[in-house]
Amino acid sequence: MRPAITSFFESEIDLTVVATLLFCRKMCALGSHQHPPENEVRALFDEMSQTYGIVHVISSLGFAYFWRRRCAAAIRRNSKSVLDVMSGAGEMVPILIQQINPQATIRLVDFSSGMCAKAEENSRRWQRSGLKITNENALQLTSKDEEFDSVTCAFGLKTLSDAEMWRFASELWRVTKPDGVVSLLEFSIPSSRLLHPFFKLYVKWYVPILGKLFLGNPDNYRKLWHYTCLFRSCREVIQHFERAGFETNFQSHFFGCATQIVAYKRSEECLKIHREHAHGHY
Ligand SMILES: C[S@@+](CC[C@H](N)C(=O)[O-])C[C@H]1O[C@@H](n2cnc3c(N)ncnc32)[C@H](O)[C@@H]1O
Repeated sequence: MRPAITSFFESEIDLTVVATLLFCRKMCALGSHQHPPENEVRALFDEMSQTYGIVHVISSLGFAYFWRRRCAAAIRRNSKSVLDVMSGAGEMVPILIQQINPQATIRLVDFSSGMCAKAEENSRRWQRSGLKITNENALQLTSKDEEFDSVTCAFGLKTLSDAEMWRFASELWRVTKPDGVVSLLEFSIPSSRLLHPFFKLYVKWYVPILGKLFLGNPDNYRKLWHYTCLFRSCREVIQHFERAGFETNFQSHFFGCATQIVAYKRSEECLKIHREHAHGHY
């Protein structure tokens, strides 16, 4: 039999150890809420490239497809040149093909070589002339100034830090033609308190389990939740696009589970007409 005093101290020590472990766990969780460095994001998507397409279709219960359609619908149908940036395996391409001028050129840009290779593989199915896939960083595009009539970006914003978001907005301003349109879409934290627990359950558990089922690494899909938490919604980043010069329009889909920014690069001529109207000079 141990003396009562010894077991009292032992249980105290146990409690201290448990408390310390819980504290460390909490700190690790907070630490992982930092924006990831570029090479980490690239490696993550390289690893996910084989499973991303199928997991995304099933995990979004078809919503992602409809939201991408909304994203593409915001650009000009008569665009001659379209850039789809952070293009992944080209998930946006079938929708763009349906919605825009058949003669338009489509440029896909992604910095993950795994995703670009998957897009190359998929492009054999699309058989679209004028489609080019480029493996490069969206924050440092090799495209010429004012090269594109329209730009789309679906589900790529969440891993960018504030500084990177500003570089991205400036880069999109540079490559977009005057009177061009940029349409940006991202998963977001729903504003409704009622929906929030379901959304959390969905992104934190359902998506990683699907990731596991489809031979992916569930931790990769779990990271999506961390990045979405950090990003919150397109509303938080709208100021970067306005500061770059765009006139913006914010849209929310399905109670804020996805949000969208449609950014217009008004030409000087258009701005002049607008100013004249505002001052009553017709
Ligand atoms: C969640 S996937 C989205 C793919 C696709 N647009 C879609 O609709 O599903 C995000 C993609 O953005 C790419 N990405 C993230 N940051 C990037 C950057 N700075 N430059 C280029 N691509 C980037 C990743 O490699 C990844 O393929």
